Amino acid sequence: MALGPARLQFRVQLRFVTEEQLFGPGPLSPPTPQSLRLEVHPAGEEADATVTDADGVCVFKCLLNRDTECCRVGKESILITLGYNSALLKFESHADLSSFSNTLKRCRNEKKELSVFNQRTEEASAVQYFQFYGCISQQQNMMQDFVRTATYHRAILQNHIDFRDKIVLDVGCGSGILSFFAVQAGARRVYAVEASSVAQYAEMLVKNNHLSDKIIVLPGKIEDISLPEAVDVIISEPMGYMLFNERMLESYLHSKKWLKANGMMFPTFGDIHLAPFSDEQLYMEHYSRANFWYQQCFYGVNLSSLRGAAVDEYFRQPIVDTFDIRILMARTVKYTVNFMDAEETDLHRVEIPFVFQMMQSGLVHGLAFWFDVAFVGSLVTVWLSTAPTEPLTHWYQVRCLLHTPLFAKEGETLSGRVLFVANRRQSYDIQIVALVNQTGFRSGNILDLKNPFFR
Ligand SMILES: C[S@@+](CC[C@H](N)C(=O)[O-])C[C@H]1O[C@@H](n2cnc3c(N)ncnc32)[C@H](O)[C@@H]1O
Repeated sequence: MALGPARLQFRVQLRFVTEEQLFGPGPLSPPTPQSLRLEVHPAGEEADATVTDADGVCVFKCLLNRDTECCRVGKESILITLGYNSALLKFESHADLSSFSNTLKRCRNEKKELSVFNQRTEEASAVQYFQFYGCISQQQNMMQDFVRTATYHRAILQNHIDFRDKIVLDVGCGSGILSFFAVQAGARRVYAVEASSVAQYAEMLVKNNHLSDKIIVLPGKIEDISLPEAVDVIISEPMGYMLFNERMLESYLHSKKWLKANGMMFPTFGDIHLAPFSDEQLYMEHYSRANFWYQQCFYGVNLSSLRGAAVDEYFRQPIVDTFDIRILMARTVKYTVNFMDAEETDLHRVEIPFVFQMMQSGLVHGLAFWFDVAFVGSLVTVWLSTAPTEPLTHWYQVRCLLHTPLFAKEGETLSGRVLFVANRRQSYDIQIVALVNQTGFRSGNILDLKNPFFR
């Protein structure tokens, strides 16, 4: 069951003001003496905001939606106008004000047209994506990837001087696990931004671990929310299959608008590796699957006119699994994305040229891909690798078949390019062209990274 967005609670002071009071000669009515409780209950695109006193008596209530009239006053206050009266809410901190105004922005539908995320994403894709990450079980899957989680822990704790007393931003905090690591390393404050409904569980973990003064969970997309201050370090786990799937790297790069001039990014850069492979069994398996459609009498129906379409569909699927490295026919080619320098638009179209020196003769059935990311800290550089030579992670490795296998001999060169073109389904269309230079044999394929085959 998918959960609704997080319910928020704040301590506020409240003062009712009219226009006459603001501009008239008399004094303003006094603010509430003690702080009150403001509860915000999101319901769909709207939210109910209720202020209650110490006895639980409601003293102010309003609906936050696209018609809500409001504006910020000073550093910690917001004025909400209902008819001819206005309520001035003063929050305990700027961080609380930010969190409330992020909800307000969402309800007022602000930035919907302008948001970088919304511009590049189909709504149906985003809904499905954040529902997936809203599930506790999906967060658990990632947390239980020991290589992944233990490497992040090590990268952060072994570089504790980069976190001690620092302001940190965790982009896509999920359960908040990386934010907790940052606090363990001595961070002064962590802004934990999460767009899915799991934000409410992150908030529960923060409260139950007595870290509400250090970790501020901000529900919302990194592209839409605002932070009260710039940060020293950005941490995130934005890697998808083949590094690029999900297009979350763009959100990670987007978050640099909050990074101080000499700030750090954890991870700092990513390398994608590719190599030609030979795997007759995999190739035949794909054909056999499509051969279902070869049947001319399936319950009396001739299916064979769809066999070509079935082959095309199967071959468009990148294959997610692992393999014995002996299937690799050449040393890898590497392409680096430096998260410190790269901009979001650099990832809209990524072209990777390759020239492989063949180290064995045989049929090349396709290209195998994997990635590593590096955390370059002041004390140590830590690597998280998804290579087939390393312990397996939940990213496995990914292989893309060529439509027609290419025969190449040891010593020959296989050249070409892989082109990743971003699409609005938070993924990429992949084009591969390959040529054996000495013989002129060519092959290629076009694949849909959004729809991989889990083998
Ligand atoms: C791969 S998970 C990592 C979760 C957590 N940081 C961890 O390491 O276990 C990525 C998380 O980022 C969130 N996310 C993706 N894009 C986002 C965006 N643009 N703004 C905020 N959160 C986002 C997802 O909902 C998901 O929970």
